Amino acid sequence: MNPNVRPDTMERISTPELANAFIAEQVAAIREQVGDKKVLLALSGGVDSSVVAALLIKAIGKQLVCVHVNHGLMRKGESEDVIRVFGEQMDANLIYIDATDRYLDLLAGVSEPERKRKIIGEEFIKIFDEEAAKLEGISFLAQGTIYPDILESKGVKAHHNVGGLPEEMDMELVEPVKLLFKDEVRVVGEALGLPHHMVYRQPFPGPGLGVRCLGAITRDRLNALREADAILREEFDKNGLNHVWQYFVAVPDFKSVGVKDGKRYEGWPAIIRAVNTVDAMTATIEEIPYPILHHITDRITHEVPGINRVVLDLTPKPIGTIEWE
Ligand code: XMP
Repeated sequence: MNPNVRPDTMERISTPELANAFIAEQVAAIREQVGDKKVLLALSGGVDSSVVAALLIKAIGKQLVCVHVNHGLMRKGESEDVIRVFGEQMDANLIYIDATDRYLDLLAGVSEPERKRKIIGEEFIKIFDEEAAKLEGISFLAQGTIYPDILESKGVKAHHNVGGLPEEMDMELVEPVKLLFKDEVRVVGEALGLPHHMVYRQPFPGPGLGVRCLGAITRDRLNALREADAILREEFDKNGLNHVWQYFVAVPDFKSVGVKDGKRYEGWPAIIRAVNTVDAMTATIEEIPYPILHHITDRITHEVPGINRVVLDLTPKPIGTIEWE
């Protein structure tokens, strides 16, 4: 039996009971595989790595070492959330690395999107490698591979797998959710006690806000983007719109003229994008009610220094990709 092929007989995990049975099975399998050795995991805070972390904490506790790298391109509150949930509530063995300066220095002046992606991906591997080298007795590498990753590994989305780790690390892999689909990973995550918002959060690209701070990233524009994005997310939550597949703000690297308190006020535009999709290959536009759009515009233009306009992207995919870069 190929361990990377989901057996036809495997039931879809759709209830807490089925999730608990899966968890019990995996906990036993992980203990059997790992014994008393240590396991390393890159914990981004995304759904897949978070569920794998919770599963491994249940199975082997402090034998799991989680490394969370903050590349400075996280959304507002994200790294804090990882520290609170895993470091404090779950009492995990968590190493937190604030690599913001390292990334932003490397990215300074770089405007080409694929070059930005490459820098972000390569730097992640370097930092993770450096941390792994400092630790002793790590025998296994855990990964949040899920079934669509296996199915798509030769497909068009391969370049999106930024979490890819160096092959030369030469460690045995622990991939407990590799035969699960995303909806099943979420059910398992909730059964493991992870907070709902963490398990049901929208997909977020590996390069993070780096591909939404368009062109060459600057700290002031990145901060403005992060604040505007946080307001958008807060308002979508409050107004029952958080079922939308992906909703975010992008900020281009040009300014327009505005007026504030009777004075000229130049600022960047915040571009709102909210799309629905099944497989991210095509996407349609969510119709956000105008009163909510007016409220969001009012908040962003008043609360975020540097932003003086809000515009709405109405372009489906195709022709526009979901991300601007
Ligand atoms: P596009 O922009 O190609 O995006 O329509 C399709 C989906 O992929 C996400 N995306 C990425 N995810 N690394 C990732 O991990 C990336 O470099 C990347 N680029 C796009 C995007 O957010 C959407 O969900």
